Amino acid sequence: MDELLTVADFEAPARAALDPVHYDYFAGGARDEITLAANESAFARIRLRPRILRGRGTPELATAVLGAPASMPILVAPTAFHRLAHPDAERATARAVASAGTVLIAAMLSTVAIEDIAAEARKVAVDPVLWFQLYLQRDLGFTEAVVRRAESAGVRALVVTADSPALGHHERNDRHGFHDLPAGMRCENLRELRAGEPGHVRQVDLSPELSWRHVERLRSLTDLPILLKGVLHPEDARIAADAGIDGIVVSNHGGRQLDTAMASIEALPDVVDAVAGRLPVLLDGGIRRGTDVVKALAYGAAAVAVGRPVVWGLTVGGEAGVTRVLEILRDELAHTLMLCGCGSPAEVSRDLLPAGPRW
Ligand code: FNR
Repeated sequence: MDELLTVADFEAPARAALDPVHYDYFAGGARDEITLAANESAFARIRLRPRILRGRGTPELATAVLGAPASMPILVAPTAFHRLAHPDAERATARAVASAGTVLIAAMLSTVAIEDIAAEARKVAVDPVLWFQLYLQRDLGFTEAVVRRAESAGVRALVVTADSPALGHHERNDRHGFHDLPAGMRCENLRELRAGEPGHVRQVDLSPELSWRHVERLRSLTDLPILLKGVLHPEDARIAADAGIDGIVVSNHGGRQLDTAMASIEALPDVVDAVAGRLPVLLDGGIRRGTDVVKALAYGAAAVAVGRPVVWGLTVGGEAGVTRVLEILRDELAHTLMLCGCGSPAEVSRDLLPAGPRW
């Protein structure tokens, strides 16, 4: 893996290693993939305006997000079906992320159960931080059962994905006829456990009937902090803050839901302004470089999360591959902060971005 110098370098060997059907599942986006491309190209359009001669020394990257310590403001976004990428699946991801000292947002649609993900993380870190991504189910009993499992596994926050009233339409998957996991792989968190017996695996329910009422019910069901993932509109951010939501993830699901939705980084400044510091705002979508992280921090994100780069790392090298991807991003972030005259993520502010028309 030594010849892989950038996060982007991991995609070609991952593609070569994967079944083309599964590569397209991971890489693809909705419809014409305009948002998928925009997530990355929008970062390239933003220019930084660095400070000089501030004598800050080597940057300190450690931060805290919703009270959880993280060794850097780069978290791992929830991505489904890691067993398609590597036989060690979410177990490898969990160890790599816990060793890196950052937060893993474990996907509800993981191919390893949340209890096993937590156990793996604890093998390599004393107090690893795991959050759990949840698709709210209309069946409240089912939602509650999944939440209780996550709580018992030691999860420290719930990340409710709110941008999926229906499955995104991925024509790459349609062309391959790929609509289900291969035999032998299951979404282990959807398994109904009865007295320890491996029970029936339910289907995830993505419904356009979901509303703030379902979020309120979740709020009354658990004391865990709740983040809402998939916010792009500042008005939704304001409603979330008023509803007592603990954090927001600005995201378009990596371009996998509404095609032609704005790039995540384009949505970030208005969302940050709308919540006016009432709750932390995170961002995912298109983060591939340390400079991308600094641009998000400059617009007011508390942290960012990465999706596909972690999947490529997992495919290429299992645990070591994910470790390497996170290391590359960490090194690039430290270097970028230095070149911007910042001693820590907290010193990054909007004045690092020149004023003027944004997009
Ligand atoms: C995702 N994402 C996602 N999000 C979510 O809330 N639940 C999920 O099950 C999944 N599954 C998933 C699978 C795959 C293969 C990808 C690529 C993405 C979206 C993910 O959390 C995140 O929003 C994006 O991946 C961020 O964009 P980048 O970093 O991939 O550009």
